[in-house]
Amino acid sequence: MARLTVRRIELPDESAFLAAHGENWESNFVFAHYFDSLARGKFNRFPALLDEIEQGINLPPNHVPSTLLFAFEQSGKIVGRVSIRHVLSPELLRIGGHVGYGVVPSERRKGYATEILRLTLEYLRLEHGSLSKILVTCDDDNTGSIRTIESNGGVLENILVAPDLRVGKRRYWISLRSTTN
Ligand SMILES: CC(C)(COP(=O)(O)OP(=O)(O)OC[C@H]1O[C@@H](n2cnc3c(N)ncnc32)[C@H](O)[C@@H]1OP(=O)(O)O)[C@@H](O)C(=O)NCCC(=O)NCCS
Repeated sequence: MARLTVRRIELPDESAFLAAHGENWESNFVFAHYFDSLARGKFNRFPALLDEIEQGINLPPNHVPSTLLFAFEQSGKIVGRVSIRHVLSPELLRIGGHVGYGVVPSERRKGYATEILRLTLEYLRLEHGSLSKILVTCDDDNTGSIRTIESNGGVLENILVAPDLRVGKRRYWISLRSTTN
């Protein structure tokens, strides 16, 4: 597997971003939160907008501050992204979790999701010292995501079944504390 870097997006990343954004994503998965809505599809507005979202400025109702990081191959190609919610609203605690990731359809089954979540845990240990554990959720039929979470130390709390959910929602916690502590 090629080495990945997980980082914020910058203006020179425009063509890589547009290539990833233009892939054939699932209709129920948002690759780039706030790009089509708040940034109105204009890339030159997007990095600064994400900075605001991270600081909690001009957040849409019921949204919490979040950080959107992108996964880059050494070539500069974007192969995925991860959204990190800084706090859990009641709905995030119920089904959304702290972290949500996606790998571009043409780059799946290469270990990238597993690596993106591993790098995200490293990032959180460095940047969010106040968080001791994170909630990561996935659908009960999403084998790739289940494997990704369990490979990164996810401990299953429950599988939530509710009328508004198509299938059960698996709710896992991952400790951010070093195992040597
Ligand atoms: C789920 C998703 C992130 C997996 O990404 P990926 O880069 O293909 O995952 P990986 O290559 O790291 O694979 C992780 C494990 O899942 C397995 N796997 C991945 N996709 C799979 C699939 N469709 N069916 C069965 N197993 C799958 C891999 O073989 C690997 O298993 P291993 O740990 O035993 O080796 C990707 O399919 C995706 O972006 N889906 C749409 C968005 C989404 O569902 N995001 C998760 C929200 S919770």
